[in-house]
Amino acid sequence: MPYDLVLLLVFAAALVQSLDPVLNDDVLGLIVFKAGLQDPKAKLISWNEDDENPCSWVGVKCDPRTKRVSELLLDGYSLSGHVDRGLLRLPFLQTLSLSKNDFTGTINPDLGRLGSLQVIDLSENKLSGSIPRWFFQQCGSLRTVSLAVNNLTGSIPDSLSWCSTLMSVNFSSNQLSGRLPSGIWFLRGLQLLDLSDNLLEGEIPEGIENLYDLRAINLSKNRFSGKLPEDIGYCFLLKLVHFSENFLSGSLPESIQRLNSCTSLSLGGNSLSGAIPEWIGELRGLENLDLSANRLSGQVPISIGNLQLLKNLNFSVNQLTGSLPVSMTNCTNLLAMDVSNNQLAGNLPSWMLKLNTLSGNGVSGNVQHSSRRGLQVLDLSSNAFSGEIPADIGVLSTLQFLNISGNHLFGSIPSSIAELKSVYVLDLSDNQLNGSIPSEIGEAVSLEELRLQKNLLTGKIPIQVEKCSSLTSLMLSQNNLTGPIPAGIANLKNLQYVDLSMNELSGSLPKELTNLSHLVSFNVSHNHLQGELPVGGFFDTISPSSISGNPSLCGSVVNRSCPAVHPKPLVLNPNSSSSSPTNSSSSNHHKIILSISALIAIGAAAFIALGVIAVSVLNIHVRSSMSRSAAPLTLAGGEDFSYSPSNDPNYGKLVMFSGDADFVTGAHALLNKECEIGRGGFGVVYQTILRDGRSVAIKKLTISGLIKSQEDFETEVKKLGKVGHHNLVALEGYYWTPSLQLLIYEYISGGSLYKHLHDGPGGNCLSWRQRFNIVLGMAKGLAHLHQMKIIHYNLKSANVLIDSSGEPKVGDFGLARLLPMLDRCVLSSKIQSALGYMAPEFACRTVKITEKCDVYGFGILVLEVVTGKKPVEYMEDDVVVLNDMVREALDEGKMEDCVDGKLRRNFPVEEAIPVIKLGLICASQVPSNRPDMSEVVNILELIQCPSEGQDELK
Ligand SMILES: *[C@@H]1O[C@H](CO)[C@@H](O)[C@H](O)[C@H]1NC(C)=O
Ligand SMILES: *[C@@H]1O[C@H](CO)[C@@H](O)[C@H](O)[C@H]1NC(C)=O
Ligand SMILES: *[C@@H]1O[C@H](CO)[C@@H](O)[C@H](O)[C@H]1NC(C)=O
Ligand SMILES: *[C@@H]1O[C@H](CO)[C@@H](O)[C@H](O)[C@H]1NC(C)=O
Ligand SMILES: *[C@@H]1O[C@H](CO)[C@@H](O)[C@H](O)[C@H]1NC(C)=O
Repeated sequence: MPYDLVLLLVFAAALVQSLDPVLNDDVLGLIVFKAGLQDPKAKLISWNEDDENPCSWVGVKCDPRTKRVSELLLDGYSLSGHVDRGLLRLPFLQTLSLSKNDFTGTINPDLGRLGSLQVIDLSENKLSGSIPRWFFQQCGSLRTVSLAVNNLTGSIPDSLSWCSTLMSVNFSSNQLSGRLPSGIWFLRGLQLLDLSDNLLEGEIPEGIENLYDLRAINLSKNRFSGKLPEDIGYCFLLKLVHFSENFLSGSLPESIQRLNSCTSLSLGGNSLSGAIPEWIGELRGLENLDLSANRLSGQVPISIGNLQLLKNLNFSVNQLTGSLPVSMTNCTNLLAMDVSNNQLAGNLPSWMLKLNTLSGNGVSGNVQHSSRRGLQVLDLSSNAFSGEIPADIGVLSTLQFLNISGNHLFGSIPSSIAELKSVYVLDLSDNQLNGSIPSEIGEAVSLEELRLQKNLLTGKIPIQVEKCSSLTSLMLSQNNLTGPIPAGIANLKNLQYVDLSMNELSGSLPKELTNLSHLVSFNVSHNHLQGELPVGGFFDTISPSSISGNPSLCGSVVNRSCPAVHPKPLVLNPNSSSSSPTNSSSSNHHKIILSISALIAIGAAAFIALGVIAVSVLNIHVRSSMSRSAAPLTLAGGEDFSYSPSNDPNYGKLVMFSGDADFVTGAHALLNKECEIGRGGFGVVYQTILRDGRSVAIKKLTISGLIKSQEDFETEVKKLGKVGHHNLVALEGYYWTPSLQLLIYEYISGGSLYKHLHDGPGGNCLSWRQRFNIVLGMAKGLAHLHQMKIIHYNLKSANVLIDSSGEPKVGDFGLARLLPMLDRCVLSSKIQSALGYMAPEFACRTVKITEKCDVYGFGILVLEVVTGKKPVEYMEDDVVVLNDMVREALDEGKMEDCVDGKLRRNFPVEEAIPVIKLGLICASQVPSNRPDMSEVVNILELIQCPSEGQDELK
């Protein structure tokens, strides 16, 4: 044949093929189908109507011979819309698989007319409506139909029974109702029938024995009633038999024993009665046996031991009696065993422990492999088992879930639970277990739920429990546990449920518990807990019933103030580093007798504002020896008991620098608000009286939260205590607990300079001589302070006290040192709150704060003393700044007019003018222009002797 002709024929053939009208019909059908869909992931983008044939399109397969579309496989393409008529144009379609999409609407009844269809899978969509009545009438060659997991309603059409080609029917998880079609067992070819999870009802028709090809039947989760089909055992090939969760009654049909191939028999959740038949042991292939939640009674048959392949055994919630047969030792493949909620008795089966150790122990070959996985779930709860928990329970090292609660077990919890490394639920609750919780519990690192409530456990909650870092539930209520709640449980970040109620727990609730952000409940009611409830987080909304029955717990939730949380003081000599509290009785020459009530009253004073007066007056007296050793605490009754501070961190520490203090005062005196004598940035000052009649001022620091460690605090305070100067208020001692710090000062009776200048009655004002002495005294005091390298930081007239002889004493110095760092913002906003005294460099972040800031404050004080005016005075609509006002007067040459009018011009001008000038120089804007305090003292002494000093300042 000539070459041209061959070419022509080939071309003609191609032409003919491309014009083939039938072939175009496949393209057309698919394009029509596609047009009715939403395709959000553009999966069908390759479907192009200009293509000559669709065989290369995604999800489309053609018969290689006929080139006609034979399979449409579009599973999981996220398609939505209706399953359209377009598909009816695909006459050679054999497999239609559209599962796991979002198809809606009803099932197109014409689909059933596609004579070539063998597989329809529309499962896992959102199809609704009923299955079309005649859908299966012309089913041709249909073998597999799955409409599972949709929203189909109505009954199963009778036409199903006519589709004798069917091998697999899966309508599970719909809302199909009504009875099974009476002819359903005519489907002799059926291998799989899954109608589970519907609303089907009525009795299961007779005749299932016809289905000798049936491999799996699942009628679970329906409303079938009546009896199990008696003849089911004749479906010899059945592997999966699931009738669970129906209303079936009667006993197990004897024919079941013929199901040699059965691997899974699930009849749970019915009303089956009678005994578990002995023939159950014949089902040697069984891997899953679920007879739970029925009314089965009698004993577990010994033949159960023949089920050597058994992996999951569930006999729970029946009325089984007797003990578990030893033959179960042979069930070496068990992964999960649940016999809970029966009336089984006897000792905990010891064979149980062998389940994990038998692998490869002469048992048949196929057992070995899986037995290495070992028992994972063991639930023996709510029976009548007695005896002790086997000491070697730890050999069940593969256990993940162990529940033996609600039995009559006694004895202690074996420490071998440490080996249960995979166990996440350990429930031993509601038994009669005694002894303590083994500390080895901390090694059960996978624990999420620890349930030991309702036993007779004693001892402490082991601190090791904090190592169970996945713990979500900690249930220890109704035992006899003592001791504190370990603070470490606050580190168990996942904790949701905590029940420690009805024990004998004591101590306080760790503050850190507020960190537990997932807490749902926290019940500690009916214990002996004391102290303050944690504040914040879950604890702000904790239900009062969760903490009730702890009379010593306090906090706003229980409506009880916290008076006694402040530890009892311990007297120590400030200089003794190592204290041995017991050896002091020999040499108590000087006694310090302290009434705790005074200190506690101060602690409680915070509640005065709330109108709550709740102070327990503990008449504990404390003796101290001066023999450089700590003193024992002595109870009022005379009974000695000793404390070592290192042993009991709850005790506070009281240190008196002078040693011969002797406090005693009625608590009521302190609770009276009149005892408050001052209030400043650092704290509130109260007055109390020593037994010898001497007064002291006690400052309760309100900067607790900011304070450094105890060690730093003590170092700083001791330094301040050593600053002895006539013009400085003496710090006589301190009291430390982490939550409360007190500074004990000498009490200066004359009141503050502020009071003398601004609050005093008009006639009784300070004379010039007194004022000059005050200025000089303040200067001397500050000069000494600066010599000791201490910056006051907080100068103001309210902090300068005047003693009975008119001598000034500067107080409140150096407290900023107690703060962790001298942040200016803190200093200026919180401490240097007194407006007008604050040196300008506080506002400027780059300038170093030095003693010169005190010099500035001193300068303002000088002006205040001389003029009798406050540093800043608020007039009706004006603010007068003293410094500016005096400076203006200097410029205008009218400085004398500035001097306090109350002096009625009764002052020596030759002293007053230089003092005012000195004040202005000290209050210079630029720190370096200000003199040192020692220079200031010199200048003032010169001013006092006008003949020598006057000229220098002019
Ligand atoms: C029936 O279909 C559902 C959904 O696709 C599937 O999960 C289930 O395993 C099927 N049933 C059987 C017995 O195969
Ligand atoms: C299923 O159908 C019922 C009524 O036919 C309807 O109320 C329900 O919302 C549907 N559920 C879903 C998940 O589509
Ligand atoms: C039987 O149906 C129930 C409910 O749909 C399902 O949970 C179970 O896995 C099914 N069993 C089998 C063997 O498919
Ligand atoms: C365990 O199985 C073996 C072999 O089938 C059998 O000989 C033995 O009696 C069984 N043990 C028990 C306790 O039933
Ligand atoms: C709890 O322990 C205490 C002291 O050990 C004992 O007196 C008390 O009887 C115990 N209570 C219970 C309920 O076991």
